Amino acid sequence: MLRRLHPHQPDSFAFTPENRKWAEAQLTKYPEGRQASAIIPLLWRAQEQEGWLTRPAIEYVADMLGMPYIRALEVATFYFMFQLVPTGSVAHVQICGTTSCLICGAEDLIAVCKDKIAPTPHTLSADGKFSWEEVECLGACSNAPMMQVGKDYYEDLTAERLAEILDALAKGDVPVPGPQNGRFASEPKGALSSLTGGEKVNAHNASAARALDIGDTVKRIDGTEVPVLTSWRRAGAAAEDVKTGGS
Ligand code: FES
Repeated sequence: MLRRLHPHQPDSFAFTPENRKWAEAQLTKYPEGRQASAIIPLLWRAQEQEGWLTRPAIEYVADMLGMPYIRALEVATFYFMFQLVPTGSVAHVQICGTTSCLICGAEDLIAVCKDKIAPTPHTLSADGKFSWEEVECLGACSNAPMMQVGKDYYEDLTAERLAEILDALAKGDVPVPGPQNGRFASEPKGALSSLTGGEKVNAHNASAARALDIGDTVKRIDGTEVPVLTSWRRAGAAAEDVKTGGS
């Protein structure tokens, strides 16, 4: 697929103050003169903040890293994880269409997206709240079929459950991520056949519990969600980060 910048671009981009601090901290991971190595995490954070990667954002990151714009553009246009067209204001839905998900019903999920969001991928829904695309294996094959929304996975989906999730998101609710058929994680649906001795102490698996904890499933990331502790820096700077809530 030809990946080009969208014809309509905003006038400017700037990281939120917290995201800027986070980005500056990432630069300290690399030896002097090698800051361009931070291009992918910084572009990613820009996308997490805006929902998609705009030309001003790409140029802003290139300026931070002292890179020619064309080098940053090469990275942004090469990786499919960077969204070069506007995404839904609530959620961009990524349906896995690879083998396990395909044989377990991914086509039914895509039909729901076509019906409820837009007939074609990378297209905003009429209300601007959603967009969708088919993606390659997301590594949750034992919970097929599945989708990624924002930072989280919704697994063991059916067409009906996907429709319910989209309706809930449209209303401002965020359904609990993780398996949607009653499974805790990726154990057999019927009953455990091994490791049967332990007791289940949590209502949700670690991934879903963490998502609930932080509440960042569909949130635009502004850097206030979790403190970033730069433990690789000299002791004094790292201690300062802890005192000020991270950087
Ligand atoms: S095939 Fe869908 S997550 Fe692997």
